[in-house]
Amino acid sequence: RGKKAFIAGVADDNGFGWAIAKALSQAGADVILGTWVPALNIFETSYRRGKFDESRKLSDGSLMEFAKIYPMDAVFDTMDDVPEDVKANKRYAGNEKWTVSEVAECVEKDFGKIDILVHSLANGREVAKPLLETSREGYLGAISASSYSNIAMLQKFGPLMNKGGACISLTYLASERIIPGYGGGMSSAKAALESDTRVLAFEAGRKWGIRVNTISAGPLGSRAAKAIGFIDDMINYSMTNAPLSEKPLDAIEVGHTAAFLCSPLASAITGSTIYVDNGLNCMGVAT
Ligand code: NAI
Repeated sequence: RGKKAFIAGVADDNGFGWAIAKALSQAGADVILGTWVPALNIFETSYRRGKFDESRKLSDGSLMEFAKIYPMDAVFDTMDDVPEDVKANKRYAGNEKWTVSEVAECVEKDFGKIDILVHSLANGREVAKPLLETSREGYLGAISASSYSNIAMLQKFGPLMNKGGACISLTYLASERIIPGYGGGMSSAKAALESDTRVLAFEAGRKWGIRVNTISAGPLGSRAAKAIGFIDDMINYSMTNAPLSEKPLDAIEVGHTAAFLCSPLASAITGSTIYVDNGLNCMGVAT
């Protein structure tokens, strides 16, 4: 039986979510996506027009297919949480059932139980602002979109996961070391995500027999990272200073690690933050 994976946070072929989808597809899993509502239309249009065909290629030459793509907004748990202006927004109005609990219900109805849950999303409106200048709203928004969303997903999808299943999220070194420029409460959100990974590993392990881990990834020029503004500097810094300095991080290296962590090969790994960053986190001084 092929495993079923639900991945939240894919809206183009540049990010970690796409690479994880590819590695899981390559390993024989059926991949179901949850794509941010405002990004869905352009993603589906580009997909239909063949814009991603080159990066959909698997090793046997076939193209990666998604079992289904659901609209999703991980900031809302039920329709009661959605403010009127969002409901009325034309990018949302044409879609339905995109809150976390509704997406989980739809996935269960369409596919039954799943084995793998991937959270590959983050958002912080004030990411470009230092923490000292971050507003309460910006900070709480970053935590809601980037950390609580992971808890919400596990709450709603946990009951439909097979025993032995696994969850993965993506985190960043700014949670534990100072990375000037990663502001707006995003560093705080990643610290929460890593701490929650431990607590959720305990609770979900006992409750459903599933594993919960997070991957601390090195810098990648994804769409989200480009929006922060300093990603090229971070990639250059890593290539100058990391133990493995010859190459930039390739998203598929994170995809492969995710596939390993979600496989029975990692059956005793849970609650862990796994670094996939060419070793940069180990350095104490710049070289
Ligand atoms: P990305 O742009 O490919 O992925 C972020 C996704 O989040 C996008 O598809 C966006 O549509 C989606 N999203 C934003 N708000 C959402 C919401 N409310 N509901 C549902 N989806 C929403 O970028 P990337 O960089 O691959 O990000 C994936 C994860 O990797 C994030 O957690 C990010 O913090 C993490 N990460 C990224 C690093 C980098 O250098 N790019 C380094 C370490 C971690």
